[in-house]
Amino acid sequence: MRKPVIAGNWKLFKTSAEAVELVKGILPLVTGATNVEIVVAPVFTVLDRVSSVISGSNVNLSAQDCFWEAEGAFTGEISPKMLLDAGCSHVIIGHSERRQYFGETDETVNKKTKAAVAAGLKVLFCIGETLDERESGSTFDVLKRQIAGGLAGVPESDLCSIIVAYEPVWAIGTGKTASDDQAQEAHAFIRGEIKGLYSAAASDAMRVLYGGSVKPENIAGLISRPDIDGALVGGASLKADSFAALVNAAQK
Ligand code: PGA
Repeated sequence: MRKPVIAGNWKLFKTSAEAVELVKGILPLVTGATNVEIVVAPVFTVLDRVSSVISGSNVNLSAQDCFWEAEGAFTGEISPKMLLDAGCSHVIIGHSERRQYFGETDETVNKKTKAAVAAGLKVLFCIGETLDERESGSTFDVLKRQIAGGLAGVPESDLCSIIVAYEPVWAIGTGKTASDDQAQEAHAFIRGEIKGLYSAAASDAMRVLYGGSVKPENIAGLISRPDIDGALVGGASLKADSFAALVNAAQK
């Protein structure tokens, strides 16, 4: 059985006081969710404070990105070992907003993924097609390329540190969720790619999350599908009650 994951991507929201208030609101609402890997991903500057609040709880801390070098003359970057030092257990890599606005490529995603896993972080490895790509019928080619490129050189023994997040770009922050069928179809394809690149065992064990306008109203249908193991959530993760509702739906 794959343990479901509900991860909240707070993006560029929440000052430290707001972040502390949010996570303090979430904690008492999710204490019963013993069978869900719960993750919150605030901005870098509040990681340390959120880490103190969640210490000893069932909520895990993630960053939204990291660099591949451990240290050096790389102004503005942050390394996996610094994220561990700030209390992170997870990191999001390759989010479509980073690919779209900050020049992230399959090659940089690959370097970051390998460095983060080597340092001992779990990676929320994001992939997904744009609207143009879906409409031109190239969704599966894009996913295939992103998986092969992003995971190049990652040995099967490291896959336990990787969680795939399938996020169709056209569904992120738009209120347009992929239908349960569209999401399941993409997830099954992704699982098939992992099987082809690695093994049936690796593919069976891999958690594949859906992301893109997930909310309490649509989580049940998504998570009931055989290849959907949880969600990476933006907007609905910014309020304690809606995030907790997603966690508790995944627990069922
Ligand atoms: P959304 O964002 O839930 O606001 O669509 C998802 C994401 O970008 O991870």
